[in-house]
Amino acid sequence: MTIPDSLIVTRLRAAGCVFAEDEARLLISAARTPAELDAMAGRRAAGLPLEQVVGWAEFCGLRIVVAPGVFVPRRRTEFLVQQAALLLRGRDPPRPPREGIARPGAVIVDLCCGAGAIGTALAAAVDRAEVHAADLDPAAVRCARQNLPGGHVYQGDLYAPLPAGLRGRVAVLAANVPYVPSEQIGFLPPEARAHEPRAALDGGTDGLDVLRRVAAGAAGWLAPGGHLLSEISERQAPQAEAALAAGRLAAHVVSSADLDATVVIGRRLA
Ligand SMILES: C[S@@+](CC[C@H](N)C(=O)[O-])C[C@H]1O[C@@H](n2cnc3c(N)ncnc32)[C@H](O)[C@@H]1O
Repeated sequence: MTIPDSLIVTRLRAAGCVFAEDEARLLISAARTPAELDAMAGRRAAGLPLEQVVGWAEFCGLRIVVAPGVFVPRRRTEFLVQQAALLLRGRDPPRPPREGIARPGAVIVDLCCGAGAIGTALAAAVDRAEVHAADLDPAAVRCARQNLPGGHVYQGDLYAPLPAGLRGRVAVLAANVPYVPSEQIGFLPPEARAHEPRAALDGGTDGLDVLRRVAAGAAGWLAPGGHLLSEISERQAPQAEAALAAGRLAAHVVSSADLDATVVIGRRLA
């Protein structure tokens, strides 16, 4: 028996899904059988993020595999990818822009990679990039391994699982670490609070605990002139810059009004 499309829309709307029609269309196209559609609609109505229900998130025009319980890559993080791609293409000294092609063979590390969205997007933007990714969460690591079949994905605490041979060779260290201050976790949407791990969100008292640890270790892994990029909130900018400066990086902050995104960038001094 097939389920009428309108019933799916009604069910999602009753559960509070604002974009019920769009979501219903996505679920209908993703489900292989009516029973699967019924189960998917049920999971979505129960509050699971849509991406965890269908099993993927769109990010930089790519489909990123996302399993239940794994942090869902956010659209705003595409700004970090754009900034990293610009740096990899080399703005200093300026070069003629070559769409989609950066310095071939650049070493890229996606630290706190989650499902590996950043590393996957940069791998698509950089010719023959050598991509390494790591995360503490085994479920996230399983997703990242699917998303980065040509990359190297490790499980462990920050830099601990990275091969020592990467020291001093990394052109871009992308670290979208948890940066929500602990006391603000309660104000996040229920989808995030209930279905994403606290360790993926909670950055400690001022949200910058993990960033400080990343910044303290970054210079040892970056190549001279290499860059660390981390997403932060606008109000964290001064403290984030100070954390990178304490790690012997020349720091500045960039932001995008369109994507509502702020990124702190640190360059390893020669
Ligand atoms: C905000 S999520 C970002 C995930 C991914 N970078 C993205 O943009 O979609 C932060 C990630 O950091 C990971 N994480 C938190 N603390 C960590 C640690 N000490 N070492 C490694 N990964 C950590 C979490 O498991 C989570 O996947």
